[in-house]
Amino acid sequence: MITPCLPRNIRYTITPCSLFFKRQTTTSLHFTERKTISSKPLQPLQLPLFLKPPIYTTTIYELKTFQNWANNLAISTGSKFLDLDNGPESSLLCRELNWLLEDVVESEWPTSFLTLGTVENERVVKMKTEMEHLYVLWKQRIEERRPFQYIVGCEHWRDLVLCVQEGVLIPRPETELIVDMVEEVVLENEVMKEGVWLDLGTGSGALGVAIGRVLGKEGRVIATDLSPVAASVTSFNVQRYGLQDKVEIRIGSWFEPLEDVKGKLVGIVSNPPYIPSEDIPGLQAEVVRHEPKLALDGGETGMDDLLQLCEGAASFLKPGGFFVFENEESGQENRIRNAILRYTNGEKQSKYLVDFMDTKTKGSFRHLKIVSDFAGVQRFVIGYRN
Ligand SMILES: C[S@@+](CC[C@H](N)C(=O)[O-])C[C@H]1O[C@@H](n2cnc3c(N)ncnc32)[C@H](O)[C@@H]1O
Repeated sequence: MITPCLPRNIRYTITPCSLFFKRQTTTSLHFTERKTISSKPLQPLQLPLFLKPPIYTTTIYELKTFQNWANNLAISTGSKFLDLDNGPESSLLCRELNWLLEDVVESEWPTSFLTLGTVENERVVKMKTEMEHLYVLWKQRIEERRPFQYIVGCEHWRDLVLCVQEGVLIPRPETELIVDMVEEVVLENEVMKEGVWLDLGTGSGALGVAIGRVLGKEGRVIATDLSPVAASVTSFNVQRYGLQDKVEIRIGSWFEPLEDVKGKLVGIVSNPPYIPSEDIPGLQAEVVRHEPKLALDGGETGMDDLLQLCEGAASFLKPGGFFVFENEESGQENRIRNAILRYTNGEKQSKYLVDFMDTKTKGSFRHLKIVSDFAGVQRFVIGYRN
């Protein structure tokens, strides 16, 4: 899926069954008068490399030496990680090395320093981190399988560059499709564009920020998460995109901090934890060793959180409200649809109804549909509140 000419935002293929900074910035959340937010301590935020000031210097020679060493380290991995746990091949690691240099070197230079002649060797280049730290970071990438996005502190996602750090899920390319679906919905209906949307389990704030940008003047987003680190990172990303008046951040479990908007939402989006607990140890080392379990683990069947969201959607959406939930590829859509069906028409969940759910759902929801991702994987369940 990844070729050398792909843009940077398609650099990392992760299917679920597929960030340390010197300057510490404590951010304040928006709508800070809300108790659910201000009562919890916020975590310090790590500034991504590309946003750091270029206060260090080095020479082209030093950069060549580093690039040579780092390339060789990457190449030495061959297909070892791929074979082990579907991890990155050496060719992807070499591309990541170029991206790391792009983020860290402040100059017009191409990032392939090895191609420069020896006459350039003594030229001085400005850097956003010290040379020694670059060596540490690259060792972490290869030896500890620390995700590249945590190394550089950001992820290129859709048309955004989102800050990420340990404790926050790295947003995945397939989740971008949720924004496309929301865009379609708001294009068709002005009321949806001006209403209140909810992003449950916002993580880095990817969905909240992207949806905030597609809404109209009056439209706004509430982005929630149980994790204070996620809330801080989301706050940083919201501020970077100037959306403080549009995206409100609340800390709490699912619908718990949302009583005041019950029955008033025009849309709910969520990419909740949905990986069955027993599948987690078999994930890529980058994921299992470094990404937050809170963002991944959906309980025994992977359905614990999804079921709560289905039930909550019925009481929190206003009539006509839209929802989209991301889930795992392996047949969870049917389980979600069954759960919705059971909730909405008061009948007990029955396998007989699965095939007929579209026609039989005369309860709270209509137009229940499964939508596939870029790879044809049945990844999303969407629908509208009656
Ligand atoms: C799969 S991640 C998705 C993050 C982000 N929406 C994205 O797509 O990149 C799930 C998120 O749900 C959050 N979460 C887990 N349990 C939660 C709960 N009970 N209430 C609210 N958020 C929760 C996690 O902290 C994590 O940020």
